[in-house]
This record gives sequence, structure tokens and C-alpha cells, in this order.
Amino acid sequence: MRILGIETSCDETAAAVVEDGRQILSSVVASQLETHGKYGGVVPELASREHLRAIVPVVRTALEQAQTTLDQVAAIAVTEGPGLVGSLLVGITYAKSLCFVRGLPLIGVNHIEGHIHAVLLEAGDKIEFPALALVVSGGHTHLYEVREGFEYRLLGKTRDDAAGEAYDKVAKLLGFPYPGGPIVDRLAPYGNPDAVKFTLARMKGNPLDFSFSGLKTAVLRWTEHRDVAGEIAARRALQQPELEDWLAATPQATLDLLASFQKTVIEELLRRLAASADETGARSLIVSGGVASNAGLRAAANNASLPGPVFFPKPSLSTDNAAMIAAAAFHKLARKAFADFTLRADANLTLA
Ligand code: KG4
Ligand code: ZN
Repeated sequence: MRILGIETSCDETAAAVVEDGRQILSSVVASQLETHGKYGGVVPELASREHLRAIVPVVRTALEQAQTTLDQVAAIAVTEGPGLVGSLLVGITYAKSLCFVRGLPLIGVNHIEGHIHAVLLEAGDKIEFPALALVVSGGHTHLYEVREGFEYRLLGKTRDDAAGEAYDKVAKLLGFPYPGGPIVDRLAPYGNPDAVKFTLARMKGNPLDFSFSGLKTAVLRWTEHRDVAGEIAARRALQQPELEDWLAATPQATLDLLASFQKTVIEELLRRLAASADETGARSLIVSGGVASNAGLRAAANNASLPGPVFFPKPSLSTDNAAMIAAAAFHKLARKAFADFTLRADANLTLA
């Protein structure tokens, strides 16, 4: 059973063909980084227009690479939310049109459920339930209990910034380009993670909730007490920099700050994961979403004392892609949980 997946919730136009929920026959991602990079973040109106330009060739390429025609597809799955409403609409409208013309069933998929299924694509047979899923991306920091049959219970979430958003904002404060997560990840090993101590506000209410906005403010205060204008200008002037160029343009004190910031984020994430594993008796732990490609987080998770193995998607499946959407749709196909043509974009769709 082949499913064509379509994902346009943010700034990647993606299409993929996945067989039986597991085997990726193709996965095409057209990134809009060049468009948004110069603005330091995603510009929603530009994102919609880029999706409009890219959607037809991206879907066509995914079908070609999978050597699959629409006649061989059992259903079309599309991200219905959460995300940018204008971006979501492009994928949904295109998916509906294809389904209408070809008489194919349509499946709406929650983007967060897609991120969780990115792990199941590779490690599906090894995941034992109940499992925990920590979804850490530019838009989400959500911790779920996942029960057999893909039933979700929200255990905790961010009260302000998402983890990826904190990375992006801290990087921006220091003159690094968008998205900041990958570059901070590459530079952090060159700094002393114990150099800067961040004091984090205690969570009132649910102890499994997260808060990252204080960290961003602490970094802002740190920059105010130093003369960072020169190094920021030097970094902004770099053209297509390699790692050595970033290192040359970044003083040791700033590398120490980045390492300390990253260590604090990782500790916050893993502490909640460990606490919720105790609470739920989870047998497997899943970490996914863009921040799951963080090398420091992967290493720390593997060394942490957690009750079960931690599963990460490979980096190309951590960030937004359509294979995860097609994979998440597979169990809905089995249950014939189809959407009709009233399916609409829901910017704030929740999973549980
Ligand atoms: O899942 P994703 O592609 O899109 C959303 O659904 O948001 O995640 C993008 C986010 C960005 O905030 C980016 O900075 C962050 O993931 N990210 C990372 C890394 N790679 C991507 N954050 C930390 N370390 C990384 N290696
Ligand atoms: Zn995402």
C-alpha cells in the first residue's frame, strides 16, 4: 500500500511516497531557507507563495523518484495543521484536487504526529508501548505519552518559546543567520559548557511544562554587558562560511556562552523526559522534530540514565519532511479514517 504524503506547514515544500507505513520510496524536500534567511525568520506571505511555486514539481519528482503513478497510490495524506495557515492551505488544496480528480481517499495528518512517526519509519519494530514522545522543533516543545494504537496524552509543553525557537533567537541576538540551531550545535563543542550559569525560573503548576524565554533574556543581558558589536558585524559579513570561518569570527567567551546555553537546553529536555518516564512507566522514548538532530542532545540522551532506549529519527527525517506524514497516515488508512473535502487548515491543531 503506497501513500503519497504532502507537507507544507511551514517553510519546506515536501512530498514523499511511503510503502506500508515504513519503506520510503522517495522523499523530496524543497527548502525555502534562501528566501527567509535574509529576514532572520520565516515570512508567512513569502512562504505561501514559495509553496505555490514548488508544490507541483515537488510532488511530480516524488512520484517519479518512487517510480509510482497516481494509479498505484492508495491514498493521499496531507498535513492539516498546526502551522502557518497560508502554507497549509497550499498543500491541502493541492491534495484535495488530486484526490478529487483521481477518486483517491484523502487523509489529514497532524504535523506533530508526523514528527513522532518519523521515528517509527526506521525503528518501528523496536518501539514498545507505552512510549514517550518529546517533539522539539521551531514551533513545538511537547511531551506526550503514546499508547498502543497511537493514542496520545499530553504530559507537558512549553509555556513560551519552543526549544528550536530559543536556539534561533539566541543565535539571532549574536548575529548568526536563521535558523540558528544547526550552527549553535556545531560551535557548542568548542566552548566550555560550565562557563555561564543560567538560573531558570521554577515552573509553577505542571512540573513537566517547559519555559525557554528566560534563557533568551539571560543571553540578551549577557550581550549587554559585553562589547559584542564587532564580532556580530564580523559574523554578518561572512559569505558562505565554513566551520573554521565561524570559529575565527567567534571569541572564546561567546563559544562558552553557546556551549552553556546548549547544555542548559539539553538538561531541561532530558530532565522532563526522565521525570515523565518515571511517572508513566514508559518502555521506549522517542525524541523528534528539528532539534532532535542536535548532536549534543543525541549524545546526552544516550548517556543519561533513562528507563528505556531513546530513539531519534535520522537527521534528514528530524526536520520537516513528507515521509513522516505518509507514515503517520498508514494506520489511518488501515482504519479508513479518511477526510472529506471539507478538510481545512487548522493553524492551532492539537494532538491531545
Ligand atoms: O521540525 P522543524 O524542521 O520545523 C518545525 O516544525 O519547526 O524544526 C526547525 C527547528 C529550527 O528552530 C532549527 O533551529 C532547529 O529546528 N534545529 C536545531 C538543529 N537543527 C535544526 N536546533 C538545534 N540543533 C540542531 N542541530
Ligand atoms: Zn516540524
